[in-house]
Order: sequence, then C-alpha cells, then structure tokens
Amino acid sequence: MVGDKERHNIRKDRIGDPILIDDKALLQVANDIRKNAYCPYSKFPVGAALLCSDGTVFTGVNIENASYGLTMCAERVAIFKAVSEGHHDFVKLAVTCKGDHCQPCGACRQVIYEHAPDIEILMGNPEGKFVRTTIRDLLPEAFSL
Ligand code: THU
Repeated sequence: MVGDKERHNIRKDRIGDPILIDDKALLQVANDIRKNAYCPYSKFPVGAALLCSDGTVFTGVNIENASYGLTMCAERVAIFKAVSEGHHDFVKLAVTCKGDHCQPCGACRQVIYEHAPDIEILMGNPEGKFVRTTIRDLLPEAFSL
C-alpha cells in the first residue's frame, strides 16, 4: 500500500517538468507517420512531428490535391493541428522524407517562423540520418508584422 508520504511524492513527480521525447524518437514519429501521406501525384511522402513544451506531439503529413496548388505540406499540417487544438509553445519540429535530409519549403519556413520563431528543426531521412538547425537559420530576415 502507498502511504501518504509516497502518494505526495508521486503527485509531486506528476506536476514537475514534463519529460520530453528525445530527438531520435521524435524523428521516428515523423518517419512512421509518412505512411499516412496522401501523395498520389508526387508519390513523395513527407512526415512531420511537432513537439510542444508540455510534451504533446502533433504529427503531420503532406496532403495533395488534383489541383496541385492546393497541396498542403506535412509541416504546416502539424502546426495547424497543434494551433487549432490550443497549443502555442513549440520546442522542436522533426521532418523526414527520402533523400539526404528533408528541408522544409519556403512557405513552411514562413509559417513555422510565425508560430515558433525560436524552434529547433530536425531535418531527417528514413535511414535515421538528420541535420539539426533552427528556423532562424533556415529563414534569415523573416517577414513579420
Ligand atoms: N512537401 C512537404 O510536405 N513539405 C515540404 O517542406 C516540401 C514538400 C510535399 C509537398 C508535396 O506533396 C511533395 O512534398 C512534393 O513536393
């Protein structure tokens, strides 16, 4: 049986700092979700995993359209899901696709900067290789109002 003291300690642990998923695991989440990409035109699945400061992870995949310009990138899907669920404090974004490492497009960089100007970006590939950077490095002199 758990005594009062122990119960108190358990509660204290629970309200402490959240344990955040590590970089390799976040990249793995981004890579695993690629299977859900809707990309019948490019056949180029992209996955994203966005880590919030409370430990929540939002995923995103690219969602294409027959009217090509309406395609939505994986990174923006993850950010829009998170913002629409009331999350605003973002720590890290992992993005993976085939190739050497997955570089977010210009439109996504502007959207990432809008919601998370201090975020770290992990640009990975399915083999587990990744490059660590920041949105400030990816989008210098970003537009803002
Ligand atoms: N794509 C992304 O999901 N993120 C990017 O940052 C770049 C491109 C998607 C869009 C399209 O479905 C496919 O990759 C090929 O451009």
